[in-house]
Amino acid sequence: MHKILVIHGPNLNLLGRREIEVYGILTLDEINKRLEVEAKELGLELETVQSNHEGEIIELIQKTTSDFLIINPGAYTHTSIAIADAIAGKAIPAIEVHLSNIYKREEFRHKSMIAPVAIGQISGFGQTSYLLALKAASILLK
Ligand code: DQA
Repeated sequence: MHKILVIHGPNLNLLGRREIEVYGILTLDEINKRLEVEAKELGLELETVQSNHEGEIIELIQKTTSDFLIINPGAYTHTSIAIADAIAGKAIPAIEVHLSNIYKREEFRHKSMIAPVAIGQISGFGQTSYLLALKAASILLK
């Protein structure tokens, strides 16, 4: 059975409580539960982790035994060469996910450091961004 690691980056632990007009009313727990249901249907093993710390995210990527990474790097999307290097160094196939459409928002969110090391990016569909990423991962792993 293929294993998928889902990493939620900084501040995503506050989902459902902060900036709900941008990120929606679902909590991270609710999103993870929905992903678990979908993963089971797709026959995938899922691990979900949230971290507010860049170094911790890098270590998770370095140490993972998963076959595929789905990552919402939060604000590190726009700044972290180190997370991009970790993904490239691990040579793990990755999909970058965003709840909001980062290209509709402030200019500083238009640049992703992660996009060049990801297979692709899904941005702007709320929790469905994660579900689409999971579906894409299951197709790509076949
Ligand atoms: C986000 C978009 C980022 O710009 C922002 O810093 C986040 C969330 C998203 O899911 O839409 O924390 O990654």
